[in-house]
Amino acid sequence: MMRAMHISPENPMLSAVVDDLALRGWSQQAFFLPAELVRALAAECRRRDAEGQLNPAGVGRGVAQEVREAIRGDQIQWIDPGQAQACDDYLQAMDQLRLAINQGLFLGLEDFECHFALYPPGAVYRRHLDRFRDDDRRMVSAVLYLNEEWQPQDGGQLRMFLKNDTEHDVQPVAGCLVVFLSAEVPHEVLPAGRERLSLTGWFRRRGNDLF
Ligand code: OGA
Ligand code: MN
Repeated sequence: MMRAMHISPENPMLSAVVDDLALRGWSQQAFFLPAELVRALAAECRRRDAEGQLNPAGVGRGVAQEVREAIRGDQIQWIDPGQAQACDDYLQAMDQLRLAINQGLFLGLEDFECHFALYPPGAVYRRHLDRFRDDDRRMVSAVLYLNEEWQPQDGGQLRMFLKNDTEHDVQPVAGCLVVFLSAEVPHEVLPAGRERLSLTGWFRRRGNDLF
């Protein structure tokens, strides 16, 4: 069994993410987690895929959700605590990030939900915001990439549409974490020439219990 790997609340990457979010609404950290943990997460994603646990992702929420591959072609599985040491380590790291964001930005983030995502070659996720019309709890999006030896020619970039009509592309390279304000940064996933793995999640604030 793998030894637990913890991230300290004093880790300077946490405050770097918080500062970036405050200044420009997004952050990119190339080596957010130890390579060993990133490899274990990739292995866990592949294991779940091999066991048929990943399912086509839907678009929308609740009863309005439907699978539309032309818009979103990834296969996903949500992560729960207690399933695998690597996943628990990741949830622990993201909880440190949640606390750091709350301290620096007063967003009142209450929890973090995340899923593995596997994009088969050619799959895309068209331009969108990570905020549902009927549920505004998602405040901050965080994607960790799990792909070793990814080359720019493999494609699969995350393209973010930023202020002043600029774009920023993120290569989905193992260990890279990208974080952005869910309601403010439209983004898309470009098609890749090979399988593309990630862990995608959202920090949420408390709901207003209207539902
Ligand atoms: C998403 C998403 C981006 C990525 O799942 O909402 O935008 O790079 N994912 O995987
Ligand atoms: Mn998204």
